[in-house]
Amino acid sequence: MGHQIAMLGALAGCATSVVDVRAEALENAQASLRTLAARWTEGKRLTEWDAANALGRLRWSTSLADGARGADFVIEAVIERLEEKREVFGALDRLAPPHAILATNSSTIRSSLLASATGRPDRVCNVHFFNPPLVVELVEVMVHPQTSEATAAAAMLLARRMGRAPVLLRREISGFVVNRILGGLVDEAVRLYEAGIADSFEDIDLAVKKGLGHPMGPFELMDLVGIDVAYDVRMQRFAETSDPAQRPPRSIIEKYERGEWGRKTGKGWYTYPRPAGSGPG
Ligand code: 3HC
Repeated sequence: MGHQIAMLGALAGCATSVVDVRAEALENAQASLRTLAARWTEGKRLTEWDAANALGRLRWSTSLADGARGADFVIEAVIERLEEKREVFGALDRLAPPHAILATNSSTIRSSLLASATGRPDRVCNVHFFNPPLVVELVEVMVHPQTSEATAAAAMLLARRMGRAPVLLRREISGFVVNRILGGLVDEAVRLYEAGIADSFEDIDLAVKKGLGHPMGPFELMDLVGIDVAYDVRMQRFAETSDPAQRPPRSIIEKYERGEWGRKTGKGWYTYPRPAGSGPG
């Protein structure tokens, strides 16, 4: 998601650095954004001038120190594991200017669990984008008890400047609003599939699309978001609650262990012609 969030920043006129530890991920991300920008200019959604300017505002680096230097606002989008995120927040606290706001795009982790890895808890919050960030308008901004009003206001302002529709959540909860609701839908869909209620998971997707008017069924959505993300989110919830019911369902564990993580690996519930990292779609 990181590169699309960065592109939203660049389209909003912000000089934006994109950092990943893997150079290959950065190359794939650049190729994906160039393809998307070309599609948008062809479709007259964006002028060639604006697309070139936005792409020109992006800086790419494998060094967190380079990316954080001079930053006013940092949005972390690393793997969905608390320890990795805490490490990144600790490093960002050392590397980013003292005034910088450090936000997390986590799908489930409350920012108070990350703020304690920094010396600036008042400038830490959740800023949660949805897949694909360039298309889905919602952004959940969630504060924790020490987040300042100025930080919340800056996060809401940045999201609006990116052309998103932000919603402010005043009290912390793991999973926030949308992923809690989505989690209920996905859990029930997997339960119905594992119980053999419908002929196939494709039929369950069809039922949800035709019956509820959703653009994608729950299995298609899991593939879009990533089975690895679904797995990590459930493991994190289990770690936080010790409730065995929060463990990932059997079929998610099996897919996770087989490396069938959805579009990004070319196979999840469905099979895809090419890995998503090689381009948009
Ligand atoms: N990246 C960027 N843009 C994309 C894209 C992608 N991966 N996939 C499609 N698009 C763009 C296309 O360029 C096109 O733009 P245009 O209208 O300007 O030409 C537009 O989206 C529509 O694309 P398509 O006609 O190819 O396909 P669809 O109409 O089927 O739309 C979809 C695809 C946008 C993915 C749509 O099915 C959708 O909105 N699905 C639901 C997505 C959703 O629910 N997201 C939330 C997931 S939960 C989450 O993210 C939480 C997190 O914490 C895990």
